[in-house]
Amino acid sequence: MTRPLIAPSLLAADFARLAEETRAVEAAGADWLHMDVMDGHFVPNISFGPLVIKALKRHTNMPMDVHLMIAPADPYITAFAEAGADHISVHPESGPHLHRTLQSIRALGKKAGVVLNPATPIEAITYVLDLIDIIMVMTVNPGFGGQSFIASQLPKIAALRQMIDSSGRPIILQIDGGITPVTAPAARAAGATCLIAGTAIFAAPDYAAAIAAIAGPATG
Ligand code: DX5
Ligand code: ZN
Repeated sequence: MTRPLIAPSLLAADFARLAEETRAVEAAGADWLHMDVMDGHFVPNISFGPLVIKALKRHTNMPMDVHLMIAPADPYITAFAEAGADHISVHPESGPHLHRTLQSIRALGKKAGVVLNPATPIEAITYVLDLIDIIMVMTVNPGFGGQSFIASQLPKIAALRQMIDSSGRPIILQIDGGITPVTAPAARAAGATCLIAGTAIFAAPDYAAAIAAIAGPATG
């Protein structure tokens, strides 16, 4: 297995020092910066919007991996693209026309992602795989950091791994929620290629050590 991509989730960073935190995880070996956008409607929490993404863009070379937990998402896709999002991921439940949403993300030249909640079946994306660059599996219910990993999602990750492999498309399989050095190996063994972690990185005393511990050994 090659080393998975590591995407620290900014939600767990010190919000009074976001630029500094961004530069610190980049220096510590992070690959992508995961940014959780929450509207207090689609999920029971409110975080930040395009202004924060735009403000941080000039502080990092990491791709900005934007996870939209807002409904509707469609009216805001352009604003996030213009703010500097490199990847824009949406939940199928956030709007009635997932195919059109993915088309609009790609038309803006951004990588398009779909996020599957714990109860959302993989069939939600069977017929839109050709428009997908990233599949994100939620291993917590979206809305908050610091929750426990939902292990019932491991067979779903494995099934998605098979779906991706048989599609022949280079889709990244990303896992979000409760990722720690303890839970990461199971997600990785099931076929994940990108691990998102908030608390396990930003609450750690040494970001580089935390990132290395989550990434695990690069073997074979
Ligand atoms: C939850 C967010 C996650 C969250 C992960 O809705 O999508 O990205 O920040 O936080 P941890 O790693 O603490 O579970
Ligand atoms: Zn997220």
